[in-house]
Amino acid sequence: MFCKVLQDSSSKAESFKKNMNKVISSNSIISNIDKYYDFAKEFIDESRIFIKEKRNNSHKIELKSDNSLVTFIDKSLEERFRRKVKETYPEHGVLGEEFPEYNLGAPLRWVIDPIDGTQNFAYGLKSWGIIVALHLNGVPILSIYDLPDLNETLSAIKDKGVYRNEVKIESLKKEMPLNDKNSSIYISRPNNFKRNSQFEMFYEITKDYQNINISGSSIYGQVYTILGAFDAGIEWAVKLWDIAGIQLFAKELGLAYELIENFKVSGVVDGGFTVLFGKPSVVASLKKLIETAK
Ligand code: IPD
Ligand code: CA
Ligand code: CA
Repeated sequence: MFCKVLQDSSSKAESFKKNMNKVISSNSIISNIDKYYDFAKEFIDESRIFIKEKRNNSHKIELKSDNSLVTFIDKSLEERFRRKVKETYPEHGVLGEEFPEYNLGAPLRWVIDPIDGTQNFAYGLKSWGIIVALHLNGVPILSIYDLPDLNETLSAIKDKGVYRNEVKIESLKKEMPLNDKNSSIYISRPNNFKRNSQFEMFYEITKDYQNINISGSSIYGQVYTILGAFDAGIEWAVKLWDIAGIQLFAKELGLAYELIENFKVSGVVDGGFTVLFGKPSVVASLKKLIETAK
């Protein structure tokens, strides 16, 4: 018995020490967060220059096994980002769309989609961009979403608010849309539902809303939902890099963020995600609609 008490108290001490270490290391992360932000911003600025120089050259476009496009620019940007992290923060992890994960299991993990909306980019539309976020134990603590052709950059740091082109967003139009079915809704492409054998759900969600926007670019839909141009957004069956910062943006502005599903996808560590975000009342109606249609 005595022995047991001793063991209990020593394992308690161990776990206390572990917890303290966690607190200390998260304190040091918080104190470094501005440095991490500058690091990510520098990458975004360099990427804009790189894209400007290279996009008019006939960049190679390939078809991936899932029938989506990837360009030389997608791959080059992700390689450049990985190189930067390895040089500056070799202990951090990197999850990106185009290459295998670096430092799997690292508590501080960069999540990057070098070009989101590649098809739009390759076809000359303006709705595409670069997504970078830093996650601490699975939760985003900083994020930059950059739309170079629209000159729109949305950034956020945990507990410091959201910035549009480096100017803090002080308040957002939060009033209800005139009526629920008149809301403007951003939604993922129908193909995302189809490839998950959920096409009927797409029909159920969209049939009664007057203003449905399918841009084919997650970054575009998320940025303009956060800015209030869409009342709510639905990302259906996407990957973590497609939604790397949305939870942070929503939280910092007091908007709703709901994880509807996190499902297994073979070969993808984090699986697939279905999430809702935006004005709380509209998100609540969408959630109810989805639950009823399931
Ligand atoms: C795609 C876009 C799109 C989403 C797809 C993604 P990519 O990303 O984010 O909005 O619906 O699921 O694959 O391939 O252009 O980076
Ligand atoms: Ca993407
Ligand atoms: Ca991409």
